Amino acid sequence: MNTIVHVVGARPNYMKIAPLMEALKGTPGIRQILVNTGQHYDEAMSKSFLRELSLPTPDRNLEVGSASHAVQTAKVMIGFEQVCLEEKPDLVVVAGDVNSTMAATLVAAKLMIPVAHLEAGLRSFDRGMPEEVNRIVTDCLADLLLTPSTDGDENLIKEGVPREKIHFVGNIMIDTLMRHLPMATLDRIQDRVAVTDKGYGVLTLHRPSNVDDPVILRRILVAIGHVAKQMPVVFPVHPRTRQRLATFGAEDLLANVMLTEPMGYIDFLSLTSHARIILSDSGGLQEESTALGIPCLTLRENTERPVTITHGTNRLVGTQTAAIIAGFDEAMAREHEPLRRPPLWDGQTAGRVAAVLQKFLA
Ligand code: UD1
Repeated sequence: MNTIVHVVGARPNYMKIAPLMEALKGTPGIRQILVNTGQHYDEAMSKSFLRELSLPTPDRNLEVGSASHAVQTAKVMIGFEQVCLEEKPDLVVVAGDVNSTMAATLVAAKLMIPVAHLEAGLRSFDRGMPEEVNRIVTDCLADLLLTPSTDGDENLIKEGVPREKIHFVGNIMIDTLMRHLPMATLDRIQDRVAVTDKGYGVLTLHRPSNVDDPVILRRILVAIGHVAKQMPVVFPVHPRTRQRLATFGAEDLLANVMLTEPMGYIDFLSLTSHARIILSDSGGLQEESTALGIPCLTLRENTERPVTITHGTNRLVGTQTAAIIAGFDEAMAREHEPLRRPPLWDGQTAGRVAAVLQKFLA
């Protein structure tokens, strides 16, 4: 019997691990264990995802909570080392680029337990982003690098990763998106936000580089004010951003914007899949908007997901007010976005990942 330990912890992890656990379910000779680090812990940031995405109840909860990077990483490491010593996994699966991803990888590597990294190879080439550090460390130590797009393969090869460790499997998050899209109807959210199909914009903001700096945050919100004059804008507010808006006294800039609490997975998919445009600094939303064929303006100076620009609907507009407005006006001038999904963003990635893992364990 081989034991696979899957690690989740923060909001963007759940939709990546869920389809893989489902694909491996019932496989003879494989025992799956789910570890929830508790990096995110609110109902809306964590528990609702576990429930909605049909993940099993976590076998272990590390309950690390919020803290500085060092403290949060260290707490995951301490808790996860204990799990590994007790469960003796044959393989640890981590996803994405959050602190829990890197922390679990470090622990497994030192215990000589192989690591599979879902969403390997992405690079923004900006080490000012904590996620970029997490990606580099995780990929450097992982044994199986499962890439969502071929730019990931190229980045890894340039860094000297042996080719046999790299497996282009496609984007597993799109498996989750395609599975839940039929449930994502607008009436699910119309009790909270008065919007009509293709008649509104969606805003999300949570990157520290945007929301922790009052000047940049203000620049972005002034541009959002321009958008909100032309169409309703719905803004589910991340807890970090909620705190910063209050501290900086920036709420006045959002007078015409519909603020909501963070939404669960299917409600949020309902919101995004019926929107006219998405404005965001999220990594995942760049991919989801591409899969949905909805224009996305990414409020950052760089992206680790260039395939969403070359093959998708994403535009990198930066954080200057005038550039965001110009990007919005340009996107609005286009009638339709062609729906062109990048290669292997086909809803079948989990099966390919499962095959790679089974071959490795055999
Ligand atoms: C983390 C990830 C980021 C990911 C994001 C998605 C890292 C380095 N960052 O950033 O890559 O895009 O999650 O949300 O791993 N908080 C709550 N409730 C929660 C969780 C957080 O109120 O359930 C508040 C806390 O005050 C916390 C702050 O939000 O200090 C930030 O949370 P944290 O997990 O440190 O980083 P995120 O900004 O969420």
